[in-house]
Amino acid sequence: MVLSKTASDSDVSIHSTFASRYVRTSLPRFKMSEDSIPKEAAYQIINDELMLDGNPRLNLASFVTTWMEPECNKLIMDSVNKNYVDMDEYPVTTELQNRCVNMIAHLFNAPLGDSEAAVGVGTVGSSEAIVLAGLAFKRKWQNKMKAQDKSCDKPNIVTGANVQVCWEKFARYFEVELKEVKLSEGYYVMDPTKAVEMVDENTICVAAILGSTLNGEFEDVKLLNDLLLEKNKITGWDTPIHVDAASGGFIAPFIYPELEWDFRLPLVKSINVSGHKHGLVYAGIGWAIWRTKEDLPEELIFHINYLGTDQPTFTLNFSKGSSQVIAQYYQLIRLGIEGYRNIMENCSENAIVLKIGIEKIDRFNIVSKDKGVPLVAFSLKDHTHYTEFDISHMLRRFGWIVPAYTMPADAQHITVLRVVIREDFSRTLAERLVLDISKVLKELDSTSAKLTVKINKQISDNYEKQVQENGKALRNTKMETQIEVINKLKQMELATKTNGIC
Ligand SMILES: Cc1ncc(COP(=O)(O)O)c(C=O)c1O
Repeated sequence: MVLSKTASDSDVSIHSTFASRYVRTSLPRFKMSEDSIPKEAAYQIINDELMLDGNPRLNLASFVTTWMEPECNKLIMDSVNKNYVDMDEYPVTTELQNRCVNMIAHLFNAPLGDSEAAVGVGTVGSSEAIVLAGLAFKRKWQNKMKAQDKSCDKPNIVTGANVQVCWEKFARYFEVELKEVKLSEGYYVMDPTKAVEMVDENTICVAAILGSTLNGEFEDVKLLNDLLLEKNKITGWDTPIHVDAASGGFIAPFIYPELEWDFRLPLVKSINVSGHKHGLVYAGIGWAIWRTKEDLPEELIFHINYLGTDQPTFTLNFSKGSSQVIAQYYQLIRLGIEGYRNIMENCSENAIVLKIGIEKIDRFNIVSKDKGVPLVAFSLKDHTHYTEFDISHMLRRFGWIVPAYTMPADAQHITVLRVVIREDFSRTLAERLVLDISKVLKELDSTSAKLTVKINKQISDNYEKQVQENGKALRNTKMETQIEVINKLKQMELATKTNGIC
């Protein structure tokens, strides 16, 4: 069937490629069209447009899972039409969520008796989990302050300046001051000593990160716990700790089991983890786990009489898909401790291969640590001719998506490139990436060598011209001219270089 009528009254339209077999006219981009189109056409139009997205497997910017086994893909598709919130209708899905909460709580060493159920909830990601944990701390602190007849209108959280944006969101949306421990060159995580110094009576919790977003480094939760215990003893406060284990929560238990960062430390009252990061599930699942039920104020739990049953819920949204919960359960039983350990060890080994390859190029400083989230963060030693942003830009031509970003305040003069090693990033890809980084550097070097010749010529031409026209050069410093010319030429040259197809 071919539609021949104009479907759009807007200038802004989508033109189809193969879908022209079914639809001759273009579709409006921002308004619904009056007419229906055949399903094949709708599929083809969207599929054609999506081809322009990057390849998720080559997206080295993201911690989020991009590959799962076909059996799990099938389970996901089979449950894609189940609304998670219909717990009475889908009791098995609810049961699977509860099993996941319990398994993860045990993994994090929650102090649970033999028949005691863990306290936790599945969320859309770590961001929702962090908001829920933050609300629990805020409410507990308010209750405590009210009981002591003290003011409770100025709550704060102490974190490192390296916290992920979801902490800033929580602080702004829920009116809690974020007191950030500053970073400095060479030290990109929260310093526990400084954090504890910043704690006051209004601190609802100190948030430590197990796997900083910026460089994968684990913060020293044990030291933080010990220092805070001492301060609590002196002050009589009982400031608790939350661990943001978005990435590290599914890494540390398997490859650093001796590392004490979780509920083994008495002040750790809640932990979040992203199921969709190293929990190995596609985007859309996170977990918030509390140490005990006393740590989650009862008044935050809603008991909804929905479709005939009492449902206790503590989430920000209502409806959501069930697939991700089922997929998490699949990974936990399919892989077991052994499977996760193998995968995390493999990721760490591939990170080392990549790190060694990058070190051999001898042009970068490594700013990530061997112990932490498997990733390599690196910074150019010499920024005279180009920056990490240029490298990131040029790597796109090979299909690689490698982000470049500046560090937060007080270390913002440091720019890094970061490659996250996920399960689907093989050793062969690591070696290939090193080769492609070397190619990019070679190209940038040769571009900047040609630029230098051009710049020198332009400077002397300019100088000559000024002398001829004015009897002297108007510009006193060659540097002034040089900077202007460098910027112009660099923009021109890089624009042509990065438009190439690879
Ligand atoms: C340390 C940390 N916390 C929280 C988040 C937010 O996680 P999510 O994307 O699961 O909401 C991230 C995401 O990268 C993170 O790295």
